[in-house]
Amino acid sequence: MCGIIGYIGSRQALPIVLEGLRNLEYRGYDSAGIAISDGTTIRICKRAGKVAQLVTEIAHLSFPGTLGIGHTRWATHGEPTDINAHPHTDSNGRIVLIHNGIIENYTVLKARLEREGYHFRTETDTEVLAVFIGMLYDRLGDFELAVRTALQEIEGTFGLAIICTDDPDCLIAARRGSPIVLGIGDEEYIVASDASAIVSHTRRVVYLRDDEMAILRRNGYVTKTIGDEFVSPEIHELDFELEQIQRGNFPHFMLKEIFEQPSTFRDSIRGRLLLEEGNAKLGGLTAVADKLRAAKRIILTGCGTSWHSALVGEYIIEHLARLPVEVEYASELRYRNPVIYPDDIVIGISQSGETIDTLAALREAKLKGATILGIVNVVGSTIARETDAGVYLHAGPEIGVASTKAFTSQLAVLTLLGLYLGRQRDLSVSQGQHLARELSRIPQLIAAILDRSAEIESIAQEYAGCTNALYLGRGVNYPVALEGALKLKEISYIHAEGYPAAEMKHGPIALIDENMPVIFLATQDEIYEKIISNIQEVKARHGRIIAIATEGDRRIASLADHVITVPATHPLLTPMVTTIPLQLLAYYIAVARGCDVDKPRNLAKSVTVE
Ligand code: G6P
Repeated sequence: MCGIIGYIGSRQALPIVLEGLRNLEYRGYDSAGIAISDGTTIRICKRAGKVAQLVTEIAHLSFPGTLGIGHTRWATHGEPTDINAHPHTDSNGRIVLIHNGIIENYTVLKARLEREGYHFRTETDTEVLAVFIGMLYDRLGDFELAVRTALQEIEGTFGLAIICTDDPDCLIAARRGSPIVLGIGDEEYIVASDASAIVSHTRRVVYLRDDEMAILRRNGYVTKTIGDEFVSPEIHELDFELEQIQRGNFPHFMLKEIFEQPSTFRDSIRGRLLLEEGNAKLGGLTAVADKLRAAKRIILTGCGTSWHSALVGEYIIEHLARLPVEVEYASELRYRNPVIYPDDIVIGISQSGETIDTLAALREAKLKGATILGIVNVVGSTIARETDAGVYLHAGPEIGVASTKAFTSQLAVLTLLGLYLGRQRDLSVSQGQHLARELSRIPQLIAAILDRSAEIESIAQEYAGCTNALYLGRGVNYPVALEGALKLKEISYIHAEGYPAAEMKHGPIALIDENMPVIFLATQDEIYEKIISNIQEVKARHGRIIAIATEGDRRIASLADHVITVPATHPLLTPMVTTIPLQLLAYYIAVARGCDVDKPRNLAKSVTVE
């Protein structure tokens, strides 16, 4: 979703702002813009389209100055046009701002401002905020006071970076619901919506909390609430390296991240798996150990791919711990007045830790007295900070919009949690040891599948022209079917659906003909025979079958058009291997269709607005 970058210091701002915009591109956007102050005037350029178009546009222009802001916009109010792109200004062009989030009371504010004679050039909620701050600035004569006063009246969410022609030594940042990170350099500061735009300049960061603002000047900064109370800033060290947000030799971040999975999975279980005891040690949960022991029910919630990992988690935790697990889309949970008891454990699963629906669902659960936990990748993110306790994925920054390595790491952490809860309940030490051993082998199994990526690439070539695809799985591999279909549709724009295989007979079977590829998750487990029957039903209707099967399975080869084998593992852990060929299949199909794999149209990496 939208990205924010701002710089104040002694270096030229333009290259820093443009580099920041490039590092934020992965979040998803449809227009971009910059504003640079040279001390007397602020020059602005904004364009619909990619950052590269903006760069071409300004190549022959001069943007001197050591104060600047830049934005990538993902349209909410108003189309992705040049004029609607950020930055926006007040009517006199003195207040210049960029904004992530949604100003919910903008229509009321706009009507009020129009009554007072103000005019608007765009359809955006953000311009209303700029004009509003400008009006207050006219009356109050103080930039910071005008911003603070405006923000107190704003309903909705904002991450903001604001500059003013009259105060060229000041950059104001503010946050409510939309992340803002301050990079603390040597007499220079960088403001960004995520740390990936900061790490090349400094590792020292401050995360603004909701309703806080930062006033940054070249010789120092303060943080305070929008109610004007000073807050002492907490400085954190970023825990990732610059190379982790660079593509290296890979053509896309998505492919890089798929190939990182042996090591990211290992990082997720490192130091947490107790092979001898058949148990898991999750330091982040120590504070809630008693609550977990007493828990009567677990509710897992999330969105997109994280919701799929929750579905796998349901199978794993119920099986290992015999504890009821419910899974719910965060967007549904937050609005339907759910029945939540104080001894429930509600776990939000989120790569970014910023997804607004997941955050709101957790807040709702907290209000109802439950213990709330986070399974989150981004250290210091809002969900990580607001939950009672949690477990980090340690998968490193995920840049590709389509989630891959975060998914397998979520499965790793959910299995560790299942082991931990299971050993407190019915799971015997030998069952625990067996599962722990198998879990520790997963990285090498993933690596073995990745070694055969060329085979999957050649299958992908055959299906690049298809318009529909059906993914079928049963049991713990049913959510993998959903995730496989999601991967394909989000990056290749091929319509794809995932179903529990037996449900096929209740509808999707009507779609099957010789043009319909059907991807079966058909590893050898207790429901293998049932899957074989489903495959036969598809074959009888001339569907084209791609089977993900266990190594050595000869039977399936006689039924399927293509078989991609995966190494055998504990049946509960099969999603960690079966998901890998599906990621590669989606990737290679999308590349063959010429799609922008890392930045699919209309999608955002982190959905911070409703
Ligand atoms: C967006 C992304 C998905 C992601 C989902 C949830 O839709 O494009 O890849 O799965 O948000 O994000 P989260 O950060 O909460 O896991």
